[in-house]
Amino acid sequence: MAKISFEKVPHKSPTPADKRTALMADPGFGRVFSDHMVTVQWTQGVGWHDAKVRAREPFQMDPAAAVLHYAQEIFEGMKAYRKPGGGFGLFRPDENARRFNESAKRMAMPDVPEEMFLEAIDQLVKVDADWVPSGEGSYYLRPFMFASEAFLGVRPANEYIFCVIGCPVGAYFKGGFKTVQVWVSEEYTRAAPGGTGAAKCGGNYASSLVATKEAFDNGCDQVVFLDAVERKWIDELGGMNIFFVMDDRSIITPPLNTILPGITRESVMKLASDAGYKVAETPYSFDQWQADARSGKLREAFACGTAAVIAGIGKVKYRGGEFAIGNSGDGEATTKLRAQLTGIQRGTVDDTYGWMR
Ligand code: COI
Repeated sequence: MAKISFEKVPHKSPTPADKRTALMADPGFGRVFSDHMVTVQWTQGVGWHDAKVRAREPFQMDPAAAVLHYAQEIFEGMKAYRKPGGGFGLFRPDENARRFNESAKRMAMPDVPEEMFLEAIDQLVKVDADWVPSGEGSYYLRPFMFASEAFLGVRPANEYIFCVIGCPVGAYFKGGFKTVQVWVSEEYTRAAPGGTGAAKCGGNYASSLVATKEAFDNGCDQVVFLDAVERKWIDELGGMNIFFVMDDRSIITPPLNTILPGITRESVMKLASDAGYKVAETPYSFDQWQADARSGKLREAFACGTAAVIAGIGKVKYRGGEFAIGNSGDGEATTKLRAQLTGIQRGTVDDTYGWMR
């Protein structure tokens, strides 16, 4: 395939510096967006057209665009950090590119050349460099692709848009880095074998929302889904993976298949194993979770993902009651793994894994 060229279309009215500074003072998560976006169109027969780095603005979309009807859409989440000595660091962006194409395959969408994916990320970080926070914050990048063809028959579309937008972000949870409370959904499931659970597609998140609302209504920050077959095994949270830390220095996390293969999940497994923990991907039931939390065998549990980083879980609620984990604060493993991961990401800890680009 010919190399895709990136055309820079000048922004007519970029955000003035004082307004940008005010917006970045307390951005929260996913509410403040930087000035530009990168777009690339794909059409059947031609393939990928040339890319545009241009002002972020609403799309013009036909009301019959397939994504609006059949949800043919995938996305990624990744972060750029300002490095202490200048420049920017991206955490394992090649893994995002690889997973994006796994999702594309599952959703019958075109393959996105890794080079194009990475170039789009680089171009956006470069053009919106002033939007990358210093200090605690980071710049969250959201590459996504959707079916733009106007056609109501049910089949893979013949036209797509790949786009990357970005936003300066702080902590994902409104409580900052305090431990979170989770709600176990015993009614709704997220993914079944053979389904789309391992793909990062919008539909998975749409179907999680009713359970997420239930979690919010019960004072929780995230929902925990159980498997769809036996309704017994812990799968993952609405928007992140989950880990359990035992009193014998073993750490377990649910195995892949119906869950998202988190890049943070895989990195945490590696960090924990190198720190001397026994790490296993193994099914863990909700019953066992309760029993281990009550007996004290379970010392810690934490959620992890790009947006959430590593968030300790302090309390678990469900229809029949609730239980606490450890002393409800961040445990030793959670604290240590988070410090090491964020240190590598921010360039304050030596990146012996070669994860940063
Ligand atoms: C991410 O962690 O990047 C996600 O896409 C999950 C979502 C909860 C923001």
